[in-house]
Amino acid sequence: MNFHSDALVFFGATGDLVFKKIFPALFAMERRGHLKVPVIGVARSEWTIEQFRARALASVKKQDGFDSAVFAKLQRRLRYIRGGYSASATHAALRQALGQAAHPLHFLAIPPSVFAGVIRGLGRSGCARGARVIVEKPFGRDLPSARALSATLHTVFDESRVFRIDHYLGKESVQNILVFRFANTFLEPFWNRDYVESVQVTMAEKFGVEGRGGFYEESGAIRDVIQNHLLQVVGFLAMEPPTKTNQESIRAEQVKVFRKIRPLGPGDIVRGQFRGYRREDGVARDSKVETFAAARLRIDSPRWKGVPFFVRTGKRLPTTMTEVLVMLKPPALGKLCPGQANYVRFRLSPDVTIGIGARVKRPGGELIGDPTELQVINHPRGDEMGAYERLLGDAMTGDGTLFAGQDCVEASWAVVQPILGAVTPVHIYEPGTWGPPEAEELTTGVCGCHDPFWLLPRGKKRRIELMDARAIRESPGRLGRCQPQS
Ligand code: BG6
Repeated sequence: MNFHSDALVFFGATGDLVFKKIFPALFAMERRGHLKVPVIGVARSEWTIEQFRARALASVKKQDGFDSAVFAKLQRRLRYIRGGYSASATHAALRQALGQAAHPLHFLAIPPSVFAGVIRGLGRSGCARGARVIVEKPFGRDLPSARALSATLHTVFDESRVFRIDHYLGKESVQNILVFRFANTFLEPFWNRDYVESVQVTMAEKFGVEGRGGFYEESGAIRDVIQNHLLQVVGFLAMEPPTKTNQESIRAEQVKVFRKIRPLGPGDIVRGQFRGYRREDGVARDSKVETFAAARLRIDSPRWKGVPFFVRTGKRLPTTMTEVLVMLKPPALGKLCPGQANYVRFRLSPDVTIGIGARVKRPGGELIGDPTELQVINHPRGDEMGAYERLLGDAMTGDGTLFAGQDCVEASWAVVQPILGAVTPVHIYEPGTWGPPEAEELTTGVCGCHDPFWLLPRGKKRRIELMDARAIRESPGRLGRCQPQS
């Protein structure tokens, strides 16, 4: 089906996701001249269209490159429908607002508990005819509800019209993991259990739940990011080379990884909650929902058997960044490099860096290595597409390559299913710290993991900069240069 969507509809239009991610994406599309259709917001709040437009303005004004002429065009496209998500009146109003549009794209930025009502409403009102639907993660609340959600979707939309968005798949930096792995021959010989000691993936956020207490109470860190964003990253790090670079081949290898991950048990997970979370609006005073989670994954594949994959995420941590560290085993002559082995580091956000930790001889009489990092820095370009901009554009043309398949969704729910809910204790941690100390016990005994990578000694490292990716393209053949790192 290669028709182009002719209207965009956002359920949950007054929510945090639309404010933080969707308005900026629409603005960027408008700026590029890619947005040519009406944009209809649907939500329960008693807002006027002026309030909706003001919200859009507040969102995009924060962006670099704000341009009032572009915003003026965007705001003319905006419509707002107020109503309950499953109410017939809401869907009737939507049908009317869609007018002549024959192929709307409906984006469900709403809690899983109201998905089903919206799908049924779209079907009954005729708004689903010729339409596509984007479902925002998490898809369901657990494995059974993910299956039920899929079945509900299929009562109205066939699979080719369903787009399950996990915006990590749309990030340049995440796709870069795939390219770096499979486009560089030198990596393959050591990308396995013989050489890799552990893999750590951390998504840290300095901010808290920011008015999303109600959403977060239904979700928690495991459902919000581990089951989806962080497992997707693990999938890219651990998968076998796909036979082709198309959607089917990549998804097929991803799902094989998820199926090889042992379902988590209570001993594999530490949950935390920042002090003060229970005072947030919409949060129960005795809430056991986690705002931090650290897990140890085991992948029972020939490549990874015995290599722990640590994933962790948290709100109100000391910084906001997402990073992967693939730690290699220490070399035989360990005395040459006390305390640190080689590693590969992918900084996924806010900046994009790929670093390879190595050692070079310390100048002087001693035969000892100093830590060095070889860096390929891929500075985000000012005009690079953000994940939501890219994925919205893809869904409008029916390209599902960067969307999650139902098989991946189910396999990743199966990994976290046994530890969902309050089956393990939730430890309180102080805002601005790296979560509860109990989390460090997960890595005990794994050489090289005692110091979380964000605390890697900064000291007098030397950095050999292999130049940024653009510079390499523009000036091939130049060698890296060595410079002291401050
Ligand atoms: C969302 C989560 O999917 O991803 C949020 O619901 C989280 O809790 C966000 O803050 C992080 O996305 P990004 O792109 O800013 O890393």
